Amino acid sequence: MTPLKIALTKGRLEEKTVALFEKMGYDCSQIHNKGRRLILPVGDGEIEVVLAKAADVITYVQHGVCDLGVVGKDTIMESTGGFFEVLDLGFGKCRFAVAGPKDSGIFKGYSAKTVATKYPKVARAFFENRDMDVRIIKIEGSVELAPLLGLAEAIVDLVETGSTLKENGLEILETICPISARLIVNSAVMKLRKEEIEDVVCRMGEASRKKGERVYA
Ligand code: PRP
Repeated sequence: MTPLKIALTKGRLEEKTVALFEKMGYDCSQIHNKGRRLILPVGDGEIEVVLAKAADVITYVQHGVCDLGVVGKDTIMESTGGFFEVLDLGFGKCRFAVAGPKDSGIFKGYSAKTVATKYPKVARAFFENRDMDVRIIKIEGSVELAPLLGLAEAIVDLVETGSTLKENGLEILETICPISARLIVNSAVMKLRKEEIEDVVCRMGEASRKKGERVYA
């Protein structure tokens, strides 16, 4: 049987997913000793792990070259869809928020406002829903810089501990929604390898819910 290919978001989510695989009883020694390798077998070859950047996890699953993916809900919300989201894995918890200086004024008055973000689709949807006409500027990282430099009144970004905001004199002005890691499945594979997918989804779900042992963020 061809192994199921699972694309994992490199970094923090990768570590949590490997811990989850180990809870499921899979031998993950190859991942622990991966060196610079990017495709690694897990367990007895039933699963192959592909290490990728968050947005690329989605691209590989959309195109069907990976069967499943582990990726943050933030990246899913910013994507164009075309896959199934089947499980909330319960780790990688943080939230989307509008943040800025205390006196940002982003929600006050009718003057044109500017928001900086790595997530233009999420930001646009949020402000459109408020009937607010906001200019969105895409920033690639450390978005907190934008209000500090005077580029934007506010940012839309992920907040985990809140330390980055606090240490830069910014605060949450409004929480948008909670975020966590999700398991996604290619739409065709969901039908073509239904039983295998259902089995692995079920076992990943059970492992992530194991009482007292949840793989917390
Ligand atoms: C994320 C996010 C915030 C920070 C929030 O950035 O964009 O900057 O983490 O975390 P905190 O609330 O625990 O301080 P990341 O570390 O991924 O780096 P980036 O800004 O370069 O993308």
